[in-house]
Amino acid sequence: MKLIQDIKELQAQLGEWRAEGDHVALVPTMGNLHVGHMSLVELAREHAERVVVTVFVNPTQFSEIEDFDDYPRTLERDTRRLKQGGADVLLAPDVDMMYPFGIEQCTVVSVPYLSEILCGSIRPGHFAGVTSVVARFFSIVQPDIAVFGQKDFQQQLIIRRMAADLSLPIKIITAPIVRDDDGLAMSSRNSYLSDDERAVAPKLYETLKTLGEQLQAGERNYDELEKGAYAALAMVGFAPDYVAVRRAEDLSNPDRDCDEIVVLAAATLGVTRLIDNVVVTI
Ligand code: PAJ
Repeated sequence: MKLIQDIKELQAQLGEWRAEGDHVALVPTMGNLHVGHMSLVELAREHAERVVVTVFVNPTQFSEIEDFDDYPRTLERDTRRLKQGGADVLLAPDVDMMYPFGIEQCTVVSVPYLSEILCGSIRPGHFAGVTSVVARFFSIVQPDIAVFGQKDFQQQLIIRRMAADLSLPIKIITAPIVRDDDGLAMSSRNSYLSDDERAVAPKLYETLKTLGEQLQAGERNYDELEKGAYAALAMVGFAPDYVAVRRAEDLSNPDRDCDEIVVLAAATLGVTRLIDNVVVTI
């Protein structure tokens, strides 16, 4: 596996692969790789002869009060993991390489509405930062497929919408959520949790699962269900941002006949903001 920091060098490599007829899969990450990220790499491997993983802590998706400076940067360990995990290239550009004209003047790609609801309303500008950097990576790598995690349900939906709206010839694949044994969705930010918080954290998934079961049992008072789950989270010590029952297809409010539902939540425990979701067919 090659560690590449220069975009031109990557593109020369991509040119060689394309000349051989190889397909390319892209897995964008911010590093500090865990088993969840590695499952995306494995899935990418199943779909293409070549796998490019990016590690880039993208400043434009962090607000001023968020953890950009403290975000864990573990490039050496990530490189070792990716060597074992079957990636062909790790692209780890620096901020100047990604934003040659500076962050203030960078081209922005954004998906209105979907980027403004749920997590977008709590983190204004966040998803525009995500779509802008992912559009950049799409344009640099021009992959045949790109893999994103269901863990960030809203993010993968926004990226699908961007790709569809811009007619990008990239197949977007969504990988299932990888969880710890007690159900907590793996996340780079779980390392911020104290021992006591870590013990409470799996309640987020438990609460969403319970809500999913209520839907499957035929309950349709979405408002009440959301309120109940919100209160359950608050009771065990979370400060919930939202619990939302939405159509999985487009995050709109489901009507009574909707059969694919996603239940999403974001909640803070101490200083750590956790997100999770479950998709249920009813
Ligand atoms: P990051 O948080 O590093 O996540 C990279 C990818 O890994 C995302 O697609 C995310 O959904 C997926 N992922 C994270 N935890 C997972 C888990 N437990 N199971 C399955 N997949 C998981 O998401 C980002 O980075 C950034 O916003 C990015 C898309 C790279 C743009 O900067």
